[in-house]
Amino acid sequence: MLLGLTLVVLSFLRFSVNAATVCNGHTELCDRSYGNITYVGAHNSYAVGVNNLAANQDYDLKQQLNDGVRLLQMQAHENSGDIYLCHTAWIIQWGNSAQLPQDRYETTYDFHLTYNLRYAVQTWMDAHPEDVVTLLIVNSDNLAATQFASVYVAAGVDSMSYSPKSASLSASSWPTLGSLIDAGTRLVTFLSTTASFDTVPYLIDEFSNVWETPFNTVDNTTFQCKRDRGTGDTSSSMYLINHFLDTLVLGNPIPDVVNANLTNAANGTGSLGEEVAVCGGLYNRYPNFLLVDYYEYGGGSVFQVAATANRVTYTGTVPTPKPTSGSGGPQTSSVDTGSGSGGRTSSGFGMATLFAICCVIIGAFSVFI
Ligand SMILES: *[C@@H]1O[C@H](CO)[C@@H](O)[C@H](O)[C@H]1NC(C)=O
Ligand SMILES: *[C@@H]1O[C@H](CO)[C@@H](O)[C@H](O)[C@H]1NC(C)=O
Ligand SMILES: *[C@@H]1O[C@H](CO)[C@@H](O)[C@H](O)[C@H]1NC(C)=O
Ligand SMILES: *[C@@H]1O[C@H](CO)[C@@H](O)[C@H](O)[C@H]1NC(C)=O
Repeated sequence: MLLGLTLVVLSFLRFSVNAATVCNGHTELCDRSYGNITYVGAHNSYAVGVNNLAANQDYDLKQQLNDGVRLLQMQAHENSGDIYLCHTAWIIQWGNSAQLPQDRYETTYDFHLTYNLRYAVQTWMDAHPEDVVTLLIVNSDNLAATQFASVYVAAGVDSMSYSPKSASLSASSWPTLGSLIDAGTRLVTFLSTTASFDTVPYLIDEFSNVWETPFNTVDNTTFQCKRDRGTGDTSSSMYLINHFLDTLVLGNPIPDVVNANLTNAANGTGSLGEEVAVCGGLYNRYPNFLLVDYYEYGGGSVFQVAATANRVTYTGTVPTPKPTSGSGGPQTSSVDTGSGSGGRTSSGFGMATLFAICCVIIGAFSVFI
């Protein structure tokens, strides 16, 4: 009896001390299953640059998170046993200049996975203890899960990572956002290949948990809701829509920045709002992840669309799009593995130029080979 009372008091204390009251910015989301929420995702989140052939975003990871992006998609490649972010063989893109001094990573997060996780993701999450963030890693070189785990440990984000009870979960089996936050396991990572539940349970297999619609769409009237990749049941699994529009340059898909305002819009032909409504109607559930390029195009419309799907009110703002220069040197995404592609770089770096040149080389390769 006394023990029972003590437990009740203790659990009450625990509850009142720890329970999150605002989750991902909204009180209403705390009791909602992680799998019953719509999140905005940044396609090639690290691929930041202006007038850069390799860019998919204008603003860096911290700004993306500040503005409401809650899924960061990135493509990983190996170099000398270490993991870098880019959209093709790193050596061609970066050469040895990938070995940069740490102080630069601290300000730019750069293309090294460890530093992206430590200086962007972890730093931001520490400052925002009531937010759940999702990473989607496209494992282009099929690196072992243990290799990613070493990076997670080095970056100090393993302890804040969520490990599910089983290798795959239906959408409704996910814990609530509030319980993820209360448990301090607020980082959810999906790995596109080589996930090993028995070895590293927090690197969650993407395709048995989240299916995806087609990617590299080049005609704004053909965004589709059909399952392109993934094994999950469309009626009960989480899903991601690849809602970014490409245009073809030398046969390679690159982001169609000119139409990005319309693509990201809340309504209209080819808009994000339209696809979310159509897919939501088809499956009786809205998409969980809305993967977009240049998320700030549309003036916050992508967040408006997610808020509407989540039945909450969007009150945020986004920065203005960074103008592309002159003849609009197109910004590339990639050639590849779907929810992933592209590279990153900050404007003003010689690196950006190198990256652009390399992308041209890659483009030429794919044309001529
Ligand atoms: C997109 O919309 C913004 C205003 O939200 C505007 O400043 C910009 O010029 C538009 N860009 C294009 C390419 O239409
Ligand atoms: C389309 O979206 C814009 C911007 O959010 C909004 O002002 C307008 O009322 C919407 N139109 C329709 C038909 O829903
Ligand atoms: C669709 O794409 C065409 C061709 O690029 C463009 O002219 C049109 O404005 C786009 N419409 C929308 C709604 O994105
Ligand atoms: C969440 O559940 C509501 C109510 O069933 C549903 O309308 C909505 O589409 C769901 N959203 C997601 C992302 O599952």
